[in-house]
Amino acid sequence: MQKFAIKGGSRRKLLISAALASFFLFGARFANAEIIGEVKSPDKSLDVKIDLDGEGRIRYIVDKDGKEMIAPSTMAFLMTDTGRLERGLKLDSTSTDTKNETWELPWGETKYVKDNHNELTLNFTEVEGAKRKVSVIFRVFDDGVGFRYYFPENRQYKIQDELTEFNIAPESNALWIPAGELNRYEYLYQNTPLKEVTQAHTPMTVSTKDGYYMSFHEAALVDYSSMWMRRYSGQNFRTTLSPSPDGIRVKRDGAFYTPWRTIIISKNLGGLVESHLELNLNEPNKLGDVSWVHPQKYVGVWWEMHLDKTTWNSGPRHGANTENVKRYIDFAAKYGFRGVLVEGWNVGWDGKWFANGREFDFKKPYPDFDMDYLSKYAAKKGVHIIGHHETGANICNYEKQLDAALDYAKANNIEAIKTGYVADAGEVISCDTGDEIRVWHDGQRMSEHHLKVVEEAAKRHIAINPHEPIKDTGLRRTYPNWVAREGARGQEYNAWGVPPNTPNHEINLVFTRLLSGPMDYTPGIFKMEGKNGQKIQTTLAKQLAFYVVIYSPVQMAADLPENYEANLKAFQFIRDLKVDWQDTKFMDGKIGEYVAIARKDRASNDWFVGAINNETPRDVALKLDFLDDGKKYVAEIYRDGPNADWRTNPYDMIIEKRPVKKGDILNYRLGVSGGAAIRIKAE
Ligand code: NOJ
Ligand code: CA
Repeated sequence: MQKFAIKGGSRRKLLISAALASFFLFGARFANAEIIGEVKSPDKSLDVKIDLDGEGRIRYIVDKDGKEMIAPSTMAFLMTDTGRLERGLKLDSTSTDTKNETWELPWGETKYVKDNHNELTLNFTEVEGAKRKVSVIFRVFDDGVGFRYYFPENRQYKIQDELTEFNIAPESNALWIPAGELNRYEYLYQNTPLKEVTQAHTPMTVSTKDGYYMSFHEAALVDYSSMWMRRYSGQNFRTTLSPSPDGIRVKRDGAFYTPWRTIIISKNLGGLVESHLELNLNEPNKLGDVSWVHPQKYVGVWWEMHLDKTTWNSGPRHGANTENVKRYIDFAAKYGFRGVLVEGWNVGWDGKWFANGREFDFKKPYPDFDMDYLSKYAAKKGVHIIGHHETGANICNYEKQLDAALDYAKANNIEAIKTGYVADAGEVISCDTGDEIRVWHDGQRMSEHHLKVVEEAAKRHIAINPHEPIKDTGLRRTYPNWVAREGARGQEYNAWGVPPNTPNHEINLVFTRLLSGPMDYTPGIFKMEGKNGQKIQTTLAKQLAFYVVIYSPVQMAADLPENYEANLKAFQFIRDLKVDWQDTKFMDGKIGEYVAIARKDRASNDWFVGAINNETPRDVALKLDFLDDGKKYVAEIYRDGPNADWRTNPYDMIIEKRPVKKGDILNYRLGVSGGAAIRIKAE
């Protein structure tokens, strides 16, 4: 570590010699600056340096393989009460730590996670004025960097904004969606030069001109506001926090840590997908034994409403009626699904419910839905109703009922609840101070709300899967009953067609949203038609491949039972599918074009492979180098036929079996927005 401490009267001399030394050691970028810390990844490929610039501002610099990835970037906060915290800081002390251990996930895309990092903590105090204190903690892994702030003083903090800079050095392109816009996270991704980004949600993924990849995000977002990335010039970004109605974006009492700001950095695209940086930067499981959290496949009274065949609200077309739900329970039992999601079961859906939600009652079923009978009927068949709490983004109404709502669910044998927060961005209704106020889906109030729901549900052994959620930041490690969430454009857009998801959408999800955690995308549409007859832009093989490519421990077979029964051969893949994995391998891919992923079942030696393609037909070579040496396997293959094309023939699919072994290469053609789904069964 290069360290140039300042002491009393010799300050000027030391500053000059520090500047000179750093000039010779690190080049002109540190002129007038003082290097005060350095920490490298265990494999030494990543190097983070911290300096104080001529005005006493903390800056960090990140190099990978000797190339500058993040040029000097400042760290600052605006406080509504005590003013800007940025200049005039001095280093009080530093400390280091290192970790090399492996820990286990109760469920996941992998079973074991290696946490190997070096840590550097730097403690600062303002030289003048209030002499406020702040610390910065860096953790450097082989696959990226995380840093967070610690405010050590025991007082009240009122943060107007956080201004952490990301001065991205290499000329790059970005894959991103806008932050602070109407549809929360539900956008198609833009792939543009980095200097055309406006304000982005994270994960934002960057590919540099010389072939490196970086993904910017945050970990352990607890009692804080989400960070957005605001570009203010060239490739310079600064965080801005999701707003709050009173202008104080984060209020905290007493000493606290901010969430981690994370950058996954990799020489290859697969390094992003296989990284566990997010999980490593979250706290270990706080819930103890979580054997009551069941990774599962489920069906539900859902797509039929999105197709407008039935309704959530009461009346002659009400979907969640006892007979209809019974039909889904029978279907689930027959084909091996553990869960049946039922939407529209409770009072509150009549009239305008979105961005309103005042009428929702989470213990009061509609009269034509017999909860008591159905939950018992399901239990007899080994099936569980998945509860649905659409709140209309009214957390005031929901929190008042939360305890009773969860008790009611528990009493009815419900082990998982999908929550929902439908309202435009910034229109969540809260009422903490008596009057209703509107807050953002990803502000501090909602980070607190989601955790409250997850913690209360955990007390009752219930899992939670929020839609229109706050973004995932790896909290499933700490709260393993937070099984999935939506938080991106899901399959529902294919029903509405406004417009439907494009052929590259799910490929883009893999390299952005899915880096943050599991997504309840709801794959498996077999009839490629939306509610107005518009085409869904995938082949059937691609819908099957989604189950492997898009990770979630809860996977819905989203289509109508009759559409599955009309194609039982294709449905067999979903019946055989596993959803809890021992290991995950990135096989191949290119941003915006295609991606292939392999996952190994936790309970057997079977593997599953999924490959999905954009609108350009392509030949892929799927190399099975992950299989065990000397072991025999049979591959059950569901792949695009020669005419597979979402526009003309989405159903052209070849189903075949063949023996395979380690090292074999499967050469297939993926059609226009096509795919391949493969079950590799160990003999
Ligand atoms: C939006 C959710 O994403 C969808 O899955 C749900 O059916 C509707 N809201 C109604 O709650
Ligand atoms: Ca949604």
